[in-house]
Amino acid sequence: MDVDYRLAIGADRSSHTLRHMHLDTLDIQPDEAGLARAAAILRAGGLVAMPTETVYGLAGDARNGRAVARIFAAKARPQFNPLIVHIPDLAMARHLAVFDARAEAVAAAFWPGALTLVLPLRANAGLSPLVTAGLTTVALRCPAHAVAQALLRAFGGPLAAPSANPSGRVSPTRADHVRAGLGGRIEAIIDGGPCAVGVESTILGLDGVPLLLRPGGVAQEALEALLGPIGTGGSAEKPNAPGQLASHYAPDAGVRLGVTAPAPGEVWVGFGPGCEGAALNLSPSGDLVQAAAALFQVLRDADHLAGPGGRIAFAPVPEQGLGRAINDRLRRAAAPRS
Ligand code: TXA
Ligand code: MG
Repeated sequence: MDVDYRLAIGADRSSHTLRHMHLDTLDIQPDEAGLARAAAILRAGGLVAMPTETVYGLAGDARNGRAVARIFAAKARPQFNPLIVHIPDLAMARHLAVFDARAEAVAAAFWPGALTLVLPLRANAGLSPLVTAGLTTVALRCPAHAVAQALLRAFGGPLAAPSANPSGRVSPTRADHVRAGLGGRIEAIIDGGPCAVGVESTILGLDGVPLLLRPGGVAQEALEALLGPIGTGGSAEKPNAPGQLASHYAPDAGVRLGVTAPAPGEVWVGFGPGCEGAALNLSPSGDLVQAAAALFQVLRDADHLAGPGGRIAFAPVPEQGLGRAINDRLRRAAAPRS
């Protein structure tokens, strides 16, 4: 499909297609003036990268089809997968989706925070059908980050925001990661410093029996303490091909996992004590929260150390708590590239 995403905002009213257009991507500070400017860009249909506690998101007005189409174009996302819609509070969320007693309980316990809920979409929610990929459900997230909250309130509506990186590459946890990947393709980046959680939100399907659609910043164990056992059969990345491992979060270097004895020439990334020979360590003390926060920066650093055609070897990370999200991202980073 070859869509011509013409811009009709801001200074650039040229007739070039977005694909060939170079924008001057603004650096915006998260103060009152900066947030007002960012909100104005969003209202005009522009794209603004915003910090959240998980990763930086590429935000656009979720009700504006052109803005949402531009998110897909800026990321060069190959398929129109549904996007997560960010809202400042439960009140706005209830306008967009139907909350049953379970959803209310989960939101009360985990919002604001690193948890996305997939719920039945309300008729007349007003979202662009591109956001939901025409599904009858919508993924909603109420971020805890003060800057994301302030931006949502200044904008006054729902913001679609996938991770602010080119499709398939390592997710951004700092403003300079966003600039390196999307500079020139989006209107602005708000610099809110490094992301505290470091992996994307957990996605919980509540349109039927509870289903873990993506492991993430809220541990499955914490959700199960509230809801009982949660199935993991679904796949948020590839809803139509469950279990298929898509290459994603890919550095340039090749990646090998579960390595306790690296091969010569491999950049070894340790986890915990006992990895003294490692070039890098996700968490020298073996703390999964610290490891998640460091993950994407370490992937970038290891890629840099490995150099062209190089290889990265990761030490095993336990499959519990945030370790599930870390291993999910590492498996995708190691998956065969298409
Ligand atoms: O931490 C995060 O969640 C980050 C930050 C920026 O908030 N956002 C993020 O958004 O990761 P995004 O749009 O990349 O997440 C999209 C994921 C996809 O895997 C998609 O399949 C799933 O959410 N998703 C969205 N809507 C869905 C729906 N209605 N049903 C099932 N999965 C859905
Ligand atoms: Mg992403």
